[in-house]
Amino acid sequence: MLLTWLSALLLLLATVPGLDAADARRGRDLFRTHGCATCHAAGSEGASGARDLAVRRGRGFRPAEFAATMWNHAPTMWAAMDAKGVERRPLNPGDASDLLAFFHQSGFFEPPGDAGRGKAVFESKRCASCHSLTAGGGLAGTPVPQWRSLHDPYDIARYMWNHGLLMMNAMREKGWRWSNLSGQELRDLYVYLRNLPQTRDLPAELVLVPPGSGGRLLEEKGCMQCHSGKLAFDSPAYVRRMADQSLTDLAAAMWNHTPRMQQPEALSGEEMRQILGAIWGRRFFLGAGSERAGRRVFERRQCASCHGGPSPSAPELRGRQEYSAPAMISALWGHGPAMRQEAVAKRLAWPRFERGEMEDLIAFLNSSQ
Ligand code: HEC
Ligand code: HEC
Ligand code: HEC
Ligand code: HEC
Repeated sequence: MLLTWLSALLLLLATVPGLDAADARRGRDLFRTHGCATCHAAGSEGASGARDLAVRRGRGFRPAEFAATMWNHAPTMWAAMDAKGVERRPLNPGDASDLLAFFHQSGFFEPPGDAGRGKAVFESKRCASCHSLTAGGGLAGTPVPQWRSLHDPYDIARYMWNHGLLMMNAMREKGWRWSNLSGQELRDLYVYLRNLPQTRDLPAELVLVPPGSGGRLLEEKGCMQCHSGKLAFDSPAYVRRMADQSLTDLAAAMWNHTPRMQQPEALSGEEMRQILGAIWGRRFFLGAGSERAGRRVFERRQCASCHGGPSPSAPELRGRQEYSAPAMISALWGHGPAMRQEAVAKRLAWPRFERGEMEDLIAFLNSSQ
């Protein structure tokens, strides 16, 4: 027990070099300055030529999969860029993270929500009896247009946690039963609330938090009292369940804790960011790949023909502990063309990754030699 707890804590405390907070606003600028917008759309931004990068491609589409599709399509994309005369400006890993945050904000990493269903949730879960849809309104809860959480999934999680108990008590007084929220219900709810005429134009500023100092907070805030053993954040069962969870799913999970908690300790916005960075940011940026499977990918995709081996023609990659989805996007954008040139000279096919392979590869590259 103590050992699993300790190993969970150590994992959660580890930071990832080169990964800073990913800022969607910067990402939106990069999307334009780096030419992506000349060919791609993302939400309301950009052109409608190549694939719309705001449309989610199904369950579990995580940044590593995004990096993999970029690798897969790179040669065609570069040819299109040359044909259109779009310059390929370098993307460092921080830039690539910012782009991912922007795609996240555009909806790429969340399943779609439905405003019609959200309206029904708002009414059937009785949110409407305490929260008015217009400013003022005289009800007990904060009017929706003043919700801080409207455009920030970390704030949704924070309020779901902090106000859960208050709301449970208020509801009990009125004789209403507590009811849990699924991630989908919460998503629908927020799609509805964000698209009212009075909220539509509020600015959205998402900053995604990578793993950092949140591990210590999980201990300080009492989360580890229950989250050990089967519920430990790095137990195989939890990792499997979490693999496809979005930030909104986690926010719903925070709400659903309420009936279990005696007196949850309130979390500040920054604390919730750090905590979700520790339990979700790791999965989001690094994935949950397998080192062993990654070694096979490294060979199957012929990376080993140039990297490593007895007479390497390219830099050693392993043991640097610096790989993540953004780092793989950055490496592709910076080194890809030279790599491709050498592959053509050696008559090697350009690698095409299948689902899950990039995540495994990242785990392998980050493992020590
Ligand atoms: C000159 C046009 C052009 C520019 C500029 C461009 N792309 Fe592309 N992109 C394409 C084309 C064309 C494809 C499809 C390639 C294929 O079919 O193999 C593509 C494919 C992709 C894919 C895979 C999409 C999928 O799901 O199949 C991703 C991800 C992507 N681009 C991201 C980017 C990013 C990020 C940028 C900016 C840094 C960018 N692209 C800049 C033309 C462009
Ligand atoms: C019995 C009354 C009551 C009900 C029912 C209720 N709330 Fe609240 N809610 C409150 C009160 C009071 C506050 C303000 C608490 C504070 O600021 O400390 C609040 C605050 C909030 C906030 C934080 C506002 C912000 O700034 O983002 C959110 C989010 C929220 N509620 C969501 C909901 C949702 C979703 C439902 C329905 C599932 C719901 N509430 C049902 C009373 C209620
Ligand atoms: C009183 C015990 C308890 C405490 C304290 C607690 N949790 Fe939980 N938590 C649970 C249980 C039990 C579940 C599993 C719920 C389920 O499976 O439906 C859970 C589920 C979760 C999940 C969703 C995981 C999943 O499998 O879907 C997250 C995320 C989470 N907790 C985060 C936290 C955080 C962060 C804290 C501290 C701020 C915390 N928990 C404190 C008992 C607790
Ligand atoms: C045909 C030879 C060749 C193959 C095959 C190859 N690479 Fe490379 N790779 C290179 C060369 C050459 C460079 C250095 C390019 C430069 O200097 O810009 C490089 C650079 C890199 C870098 C950046 C290294 C750094 O120092 O930052 C990464 C990451 C990388 N490759 C990953 C891979 C992966 C993953 C595979 C397999 C899917 C692969 N490479 C397959 C030749 C290759």
